Amino acid sequence: MSLILTQYQQDMLDGRYGKGKALAIRIQKAIGEGFRAQRMVPITRAHVALSAQEADTWFARKMRDAGATCAVSPTVNPGYCLKLFQQLGYVDGESSALMRETHQVYQALGANLTYSCTPYLFGNIPRYGEIVSFSESSATVYVNSVLGARTNRESSASALCAAITGFVPEYGMLLEENRFGTVLVQVDAQLKSEFDFALLGLNIKRIGRGVPVFTGIHPSAVTTEGLIALGAQMNVAGMVDLFHILGVTPDAPDLDRAFGGKQPERVITITQAHLDEHRAALMPHRLDHVDFVMLGCPHYTYEQICRADKYLEQNSAAVPVWILTSAATAALAQVNGVSDSLEAHGARIVPNTCVDEAACWGHLVGKQGVTDSPKCAYYMRAFGVNLAVCDSETCLTWAAKGRGEF
Ligand code: F3S
Repeated sequence: MSLILTQYQQDMLDGRYGKGKALAIRIQKAIGEGFRAQRMVPITRAHVALSAQEADTWFARKMRDAGATCAVSPTVNPGYCLKLFQQLGYVDGESSALMRETHQVYQALGANLTYSCTPYLFGNIPRYGEIVSFSESSATVYVNSVLGARTNRESSASALCAAITGFVPEYGMLLEENRFGTVLVQVDAQLKSEFDFALLGLNIKRIGRGVPVFTGIHPSAVTTEGLIALGAQMNVAGMVDLFHILGVTPDAPDLDRAFGGKQPERVITITQAHLDEHRAALMPHRLDHVDFVMLGCPHYTYEQICRADKYLEQNSAAVPVWILTSAATAALAQVNGVSDSLEAHGARIVPNTCVDEAACWGHLVGKQGVTDSPKCAYYMRAFGVNLAVCDSETCLTWAAKGRGEF
């Protein structure tokens, strides 16, 4: 059965609402047909994984030049803070021009320029059951799993098309039958910090494809930061749209509901040894020196920033500590004096910025850093920045000593 459009959607495809909307819905129709969608359904929210990189800006520019504007104003992922990185002298003229153009193009399209990969914390928080179109793999999994809203793992281009038309093809995670658990994952390990949740996420290859339902995690061990880390790291080591945690996430009050009354296809146990295996692989026993610390991939919450501040008050950093977050969280830290305190102890809050913006972080190439995010290490290694990975407190201990020892 082919994808059937409503009269309004067909008019859009026929160009009645302009070339831009026609182009966007044409792309979506092709995607929908590829996934055997039968109709397109309205969305109430969108998030576009913008980056100040040529391909993304090329696509957005093409849409703007075709006269498109957004029917649903999307929030956007980080690019970088032009003001800060120009002040620091780290970006060249060409990169700055691209960031400036990216900003202008998305503004013309009608985006809400939040520049954060955690839009679900500030500014774009879907409700349970809402149909939305989110890109950014760490955000889509959070929105589906923790908030119980419905989105496919969109690309920046397909999410922008959805924002422009106000519709998405209905397939995958939008359909009830695909949202039940398929793999039972018994966690027989201590989850004491969000880093332990990140390590659990890195075990996704053991878990395999499907929708994992985690058991054995006590609700009192679960924090917002842990849930963010779990989803983000599962999408570094694999591709996960949705997970459930028994007694924690909204679609898993009990096993029967989580699995839709069916038996799991597989039962897997993740042990402390599995977590420790990843911990050891990420973290050398000794680093002769540490040149910098990178925190905030995904963007740090206010709670994480305050925790770093408390630690650094006792042990000032001997090497630069970069803390990435949203502009909204940075503003909160500014108002409450946390930014000044961090700066006094060697750390800097960086708003609106992604670790993947090679234009900003070129000065770190060849240096040795540490981070609490496997995702950060993965992206920065791609352009020549070395990072060891460990929990945030150990990162800050290294920052204070300028070297790592265990
Ligand atoms: Fe956010 Fe960029 Fe990391 S979008 S999750 S800081 S790779």
